[in-house]
Amino acid sequence: MSEGAVKKEEKPRKFQAIRGTRDLLPPETAVWNRVEQTAHEVFGTFGFAEIRPPIFELTELFARSIGSDTDIVSKEMFAFEDRPSELSPPGPNEIPDDYTEAIQKSMDGGLIPSTPSNKRTVAAMRQKLAELHAAEDKRETQEVENAYLWWAFELQDLKLGDALALRPEATASVCRAYVEHGMQQLPQPVKLYYMGPMFRRERPQKGRYRQFYQIGAEVLGGSDAPAIDAEVIEMVMTFFDRLELQGVQLDLNSIGCRECRPKYVELLRAELVKVKDNLGADSQRRIETNPLRVLDSKLETEQGIIATLPRIADHLCDDCKTHYAAVKHQLEMRGVIYRENWRLVRGLDYYMRTTFEITAQGLGSQNAVCGGGRYDGLVELLGGPATKGIGFAIGEDRLILSLQESGKAAVQQGRDVYIAWMGEHARATAIRAAKDLRKAGFSVELPPVELKFGKALGQADKLGAKYALILGDNEVAEGLWTLKTLADGSQAKFTEPELLEHLRKQKALSS
Ligand code: HAM
Repeated sequence: MSEGAVKKEEKPRKFQAIRGTRDLLPPETAVWNRVEQTAHEVFGTFGFAEIRPPIFELTELFARSIGSDTDIVSKEMFAFEDRPSELSPPGPNEIPDDYTEAIQKSMDGGLIPSTPSNKRTVAAMRQKLAELHAAEDKRETQEVENAYLWWAFELQDLKLGDALALRPEATASVCRAYVEHGMQQLPQPVKLYYMGPMFRRERPQKGRYRQFYQIGAEVLGGSDAPAIDAEVIEMVMTFFDRLELQGVQLDLNSIGCRECRPKYVELLRAELVKVKDNLGADSQRRIETNPLRVLDSKLETEQGIIATLPRIADHLCDDCKTHYAAVKHQLEMRGVIYRENWRLVRGLDYYMRTTFEITAQGLGSQNAVCGGGRYDGLVELLGGPATKGIGFAIGEDRLILSLQESGKAAVQQGRDVYIAWMGEHARATAIRAAKDLRKAGFSVELPPVELKFGKALGQADKLGAKYALILGDNEVAEGLWTLKTLADGSQAKFTEPELLEHLRKQKALSS
């Protein structure tokens, strides 16, 4: 039996999409395209250009940016070691000297990462080999054995591949790209947007997936002028407005800077310790790891306690206070309606000052369609120059879900013209007509085999075609083609140029 062939008695396995992932199918994909096209257009009018970073990066990039204690990094990343397949563990007859040198060669050739830790490991392995050979010279069998074991033990420390992760978000990648491509040399600020899949190992539910899609934007470099914060928010709101997203609510907060936030966090921690016994297990743990996240809690029993906690707005330093007030003023100048929400802290570590989140209707508990904020200093954390930054990401799955729930996700389905042809002469004319109509921008269905007119019209109906173009040998001989409007059954005859003109006019009328 050839390789890959299925044994007769075995029922072939049926495959399903992995939990938390899904197929986006037509006609829904047309909504996705419309949303993405609108983003290209709206973001373009604000001077943003598209960036397409890769889908996986070094795990460390995300750990450094988002924070190793966050849920995203500590629990939700799809991480893996990028191990080159050529390297197998040493076999029983392997000579450790040869194996060590093979590793060195692989490191020199870039097959194994040439990191300081790997270099140290190879040096240690060589040291053990030297001890092994010294013991061999003295014929100390036990020592030889021990040195070999130590060599194998060191070997385990070798990182054969880079630690990689599927991106859980794209801000870190955009900042990495900013540094890597020296974008600080470009006119500042650099305004970039992206769209694409992100990956988080979360518990799937409505509006929460393990592969989900974001449309995001980042403004990097230049100043931290509050007008930049306001314009970025204005851009998302304009985008949502254009899509007619319903029930849009913008929540705004300032979480301070490296000067004032740590003091507030300590104050918050001290207050939380006092009420610790009345908090749930998650919040109790967060008193230590990240007290700000307690403010995020949705637990009913904690709401009364949270309401009495100190608020960051009362503890901002003068600069942050001024910045926050100016952001609000700038939003008002742009007619952007917001609600201040002192409990909005966001779940990623890189934020400072402005944070915001937008909710929309019809989404249940996962109702945040957009989250964002300022992250001055993140680029420096990634080895770049001192850089200001602010951005947001929209959850495209949730955005589309909300549009669907509120009936704003209608898409044009079906075809413009179904060509019902019969007869050999008609076939050639039908092929030509299809070509011309498609060239003129109409969507055309041309049945591959001849069908009786009755059957063809039935199909045209099922496909939701607007018109059926009837081409029989008579029509072809006369040069007069019959166009049937399927909605009302009316028919009219046209010459070929008249037909194109008629369809163009009708299309212009309906759009
Ligand atoms: P985020 O709040 O983690 O922020 O995600 C932004 C949005 O992505 C959320 O509001 C939500 O709509 C969507 N989202 C997140 N996780 C899922 C999921 N599992 N399933 C479906 N949708 C999801 C960030 O990612 C930041 N990078 C935003 C940013 C850009 N801040 C500054 N620049």
